[in-house]
Amino acid sequence: MRPKLKTAAAAAALALLAVPATAGDPAAGEGAFNSQCANCHNVINDEGDVLAGRPNVRTGPNLYGIIGRQAGVVDGFRYGASLVEAGTEGLVWTEEDMVPYLLNPVDFLRETLDDRRARSQMSFRVRDEGTAQDIIAFLAQFGTADAEENAEEGGS
Ligand code: HEC
Repeated sequence: MRPKLKTAAAAAALALLAVPATAGDPAAGEGAFNSQCANCHNVINDEGDVLAGRPNVRTGPNLYGIIGRQAGVVDGFRYGASLVEAGTEGLVWTEEDMVPYLLNPVDFLRETLDDRRARSQMSFRVRDEGTAQDIIAFLAQFGTADAEENAEEGGS
């Protein structure tokens, strides 16, 4: 009896450990997206359906399918040079590396490009990691099967 119980407890502990550190809560993320991101971003699919935020918001790029996508490639959006460069040098957004970007876009680009003069056109910063993870979990729901696969490969 006892050893069995112990094993069950150990298995439960392992299952807890297996939960990725970046797992956010998409429901909480929706509220945070609306209050913190929707002034500049929305999520619009290829058919033109607005899945999050409001139509006609163009300060920031459309975030549809952002997880698993190369950085800086939304058609027609005028990015800053640093973000585009990060993308052409291989930055593909994963749930994990979007966290430091949201906490501090400038520092993230400077580190990624190893260039102290790198600049970000996104001046906004999320204040805590948990909120960033929730928003990312919310955004990860919108995209193609391809994007999800890429994100899984890149994640954890
Ligand atoms: C004040 C406007 C503004 C706010 C608020 C804002 N962003 Fe941005 N965001 C931008 C701009 C502008 C860019 C393009 C940055 C560049 O070109 O350097 C951008 C870029 C991004 C990118 C990279 C997109 C790509 O195609 O590579 C992501 C991801 C992103 N924002 C997520 C968010 C999230 C999530 C929030 C809310 C927590 C948020 N942003 C809040 C303006 C904003």
